Amino acid sequence: MNSHQLLKGKKGIIFGALDENSIAWQVALKAHEQGAQFVLSNAPVALRKKDIFQLAELTNSQVISADVTQVSELEDLFAETMRLLDGKLDFILHSVGMSPNVRKSIPYEDLNYDYMMKTLDVSAISLHKMLSVAKRMDVINDWGSVVALTYIASQRTFSSYSDMAQAKAVLESIVRQFGYHYGRSNNVRINSISQSPTKTTAGTGVSGFNSFYYYAHDMSPLGNADAMACADYCITLFSDYTRMVTMQNLYHDGGFSSMGISNKLIEQYEQCFDPTRED
Ligand SMILES: NC(=O)c1ccc[n+]([C@@H]2O[C@H](COP(=O)([O-])OP(=O)(O)OC[C@H]3O[C@@H](n4cnc5c(N)ncnc54)[C@H](O)[C@@H]3O)[C@@H](O)[C@H]2O)c1
Repeated sequence: MNSHQLLKGKKGIIFGALDENSIAWQVALKAHEQGAQFVLSNAPVALRKKDIFQLAELTNSQVISADVTQVSELEDLFAETMRLLDGKLDFILHSVGMSPNVRKSIPYEDLNYDYMMKTLDVSAISLHKMLSVAKRMDVINDWGSVVALTYIASQRTFSSYSDMAQAKAVLESIVRQFGYHYGRSNNVRINSISQSPTKTTAGTGVSGFNSFYYYAHDMSPLGNADAMACADYCITLFSDYTRMVTMQNLYHDGGFSSMGISNKLIEQYEQCFDPTRED
């Protein structure tokens, strides 16, 4: 896609680029292409993977580590970012998620509750912490834009998504409620993008990911949205063309969320249909 310099003069922070498959990685490339300046941030443990420094070179940006569950680290990150970028921010991408229960394949009925608290803290409450620190430190310019990534399992049951479903429901609720407060005080808009299954480290960690992926692809009239298309959508939300959009959960899923069943899935189901079945 051509650069229209939609983000010329805008400054931001992009959380969550782990490697080139990450959604945040694609957002960083597009934001750079569209003229933005930004800092890349990830957890200290993720920086050990080193890929993010390659992204920093490609996008002429700096990397600052922060564990999003630690308020003091967010305070230091925001202060250092405003110093490096010489001013307040116009956009923040929250592209962060992690569930120890999912990682350790613990069955949903037997969740480890300490792990569940970690899932909620990293994947949802971290958005509240970011927004709260940003508001207190007056980090975001008027009409700035915050985007968080979510998944439709917040609204419907996807049997193996485990406690990430609760985390996404909390995340979307924070988007609506903080969207009110930050909108009233500073005209800051806050939205979540509900993205198709995408082949990333977090995505493929969910058990049965390939079935999620191909089922959604065959259900959706446009097929699955990939990370690059998701990045394009993020750019529009950071731009001045969406100034009155806030507190929304926006589906970016090729039409999946409006479907019941598709002809493709009917055909596939019929192929494996048992003709002797009587129920
Ligand atoms: N991949 C999918 O299928 C899919 C679909 C819908 C939504 N999402 C969401 O998109 C977002 C980005 O995930 P992704 O798919 O690009 O995978 P990813 O694994 O590339 O990104 C997840 C990021 O979270 C970071 N992270 C984890 N714990 C952290 C902490 N304590 N502090 C700071 N950062 C931390 C990781 O280091 C990583 O960079 C997540 O919120 C995910 O739930 C993904």
